[in-house]
Amino acid sequence: MCGIVAYIGKREAYPIIIKGLKRLEYRGYDSAGIALLDKGDLNIYKKQGKVANLEEFASGKNITGNIGIGHTRWATHGLPNDINSHPHYSNDGELALIHNGIIENYDILREELKSRGYSFVSETDTEVLVHLIDDIIKTEKVELVEAVRHALLNVTGAYAIVILSKNNPNQLVAARKSSPLVIGIGEENEFFLASDATPIVEYTKQVVYLNDEEIAVVDLNDGLRILSITNQDKTPYIQQLEMKLEALEKGGFEHFMLKEIFEQPRSIHDCFRGRLNAEKGWVALGGLKEYEQKMINANRLIFVACGTSWHACQVGEYLIEGLARINVEVEYASEFRYRNPIINENDIVIAVSQSGETADTLAALELAKSKGATILGICNVVGSSISRITDAGSYTHAGPEIGVASTKAFTAQVTILTLLALSLANKKGTISETTFHTMLADLEAVPDKVKKILDSDAKIKEIARIYQNASNALYLGRNSSFPVALEGALKLKEISYIHAEGYPAAEMKHGPIALIDEEMPVFVIATKGTSYEKVVSNIQEVKARKGKLICIVTEGDTQVKDLADHIIEIPDTDENLVPLLATIPLQLLSYHISVFRGCNVDQPRNLAKSVTVE
Ligand code: AGP
Ligand code: GLU
Repeated sequence: MCGIVAYIGKREAYPIIIKGLKRLEYRGYDSAGIALLDKGDLNIYKKQGKVANLEEFASGKNITGNIGIGHTRWATHGLPNDINSHPHYSNDGELALIHNGIIENYDILREELKSRGYSFVSETDTEVLVHLIDDIIKTEKVELVEAVRHALLNVTGAYAIVILSKNNPNQLVAARKSSPLVIGIGEENEFFLASDATPIVEYTKQVVYLNDEEIAVVDLNDGLRILSITNQDKTPYIQQLEMKLEALEKGGFEHFMLKEIFEQPRSIHDCFRGRLNAEKGWVALGGLKEYEQKMINANRLIFVACGTSWHACQVGEYLIEGLARINVEVEYASEFRYRNPIINENDIVIAVSQSGETADTLAALELAKSKGATILGICNVVGSSISRITDAGSYTHAGPEIGVASTKAFTAQVTILTLLALSLANKKGTISETTFHTMLADLEAVPDKVKKILDSDAKIKEIARIYQNASNALYLGRNSSFPVALEGALKLKEISYIHAEGYPAAEMKHGPIALIDEEMPVFVIATKGTSYEKVVSNIQEVKARKGKLICIVTEGDTQVKDLADHIIEIPDTDENLVPLLATIPLQLLSYHISVFRGCNVDQPRNLAKSVTVE
């Protein structure tokens, strides 16, 4: 994963890079480092831990220079320590390089370079790149950009890199394959490079997204040049950023996660704004409209995703199969891509991803494309790799999600999938006009209902206080609330480090019931609907084993209230829309438990927001 930032221009590079690294810290926070060119000197500062550690280490030192590169690491090869931190540098100290990705053939390259006299100081795969480029410059007597190009032809794996060279004090050379890189264009040959647009947005709105196997040279005198690794010159395609700076700040909340949870009335509304009108009875996902008939005729829709996005797809499966009667399969992208799946031109493969950069999801799409399937995307990040390789797609419009634990992106994904299910069902005639109209009206009412749930935050916090010391937790739900249970469990484990599992409520008696004792909190989604009575029976089973029951129920429920230790009420809604509401209290519970336990809510250990390595 990792975040990379670089600057070249007339300003001081250090503050721009440090600020940028802080914005990208969600991508990894094992270590941070920076290299600056200052009057012919190449100075490198690196430190294990967060960007703040690097800042502290650098404070008091007179750090100047108007060309620099910076990195925040999520370690794949080698421990998270100072030495393995990026930038890595050549043996003669002429070159410094930052890298996001994995060099898969690093072992062979390393041995070869060692036999040619290169010494390695780190355990990373990255270090081979800097020595390889250095070796090519020296042996082939070529310019930096040419050496980078040759080096990349010998590399397998994924990379976004930026290189700084003492001998080329007016330029930076960057390249990408499978890891993202955006170039911001400032004034008078000033350039900002970064893993995403967040470090760039406050300086310029004009950006170029580098494509796979492209190299960019940004030069103080000659401006921007893009070429392919096969040496074809490319015309930069300049796009306008629509991101707002305020969206990247905490806006008075203690953590990004809390801000993002509370943003959901707005983000869900933004997601369906202009796409549905309950009064007139229409729904339209512009980007996917022309593929709807194809979806109806398709053998099946295959959804590929990871983590929380996979849970959203699971909800989508219940909705699309239930309402539109179209066969849906939901696949873990990482499994799908390696199991030689049977796919042909009649299949439609839909990737769901907040970042639009998840390596496994991207690779699953590429595989489906190579087999002739139609590939579609549902992404949050505008201009992301998935949104660019797909035949068509829909943006979720949730706005930047900074907290590593996904919250508003999940509800936005579920909203899009609900719109899609309704649109397909209406077109196919599998639901009545009355149901269609009622469901549209119910969906329009969701943001206000989410707001109402958020108003009960103080009560939810008190429940969280009681269970903050749990070691295990079970989450149960049936029907489309089953994936909500999975998502609830994932939220708890990733930010509180409490072991948690999600199960279809009825499956509990096939194993997990053995775990239940008076110490075990069991979170149950027990809202009104077709499975209600069945879930009540499951609740009885937990109660009989003295488990602690925290149940999410429909407003006014009395039956579960009598059985549960705690209830959290959510407003009544169409059964298909329950996931959009039931997930909110589970997010808040995890958030508060994490805070009570003193965990790092926004940057949980070992995780990163955007998983651009497989
Ligand atoms: C969830 O809280 C995690 N951030 C993670 O499971 C995430 O959903 C997964 O890595 C997929 O990311 P994507 O949506 O950006 O593809
Ligand atoms: N593979 C490099 C390292 O371990 C970069 C990691 C990444 O991009 O996540 O340092």
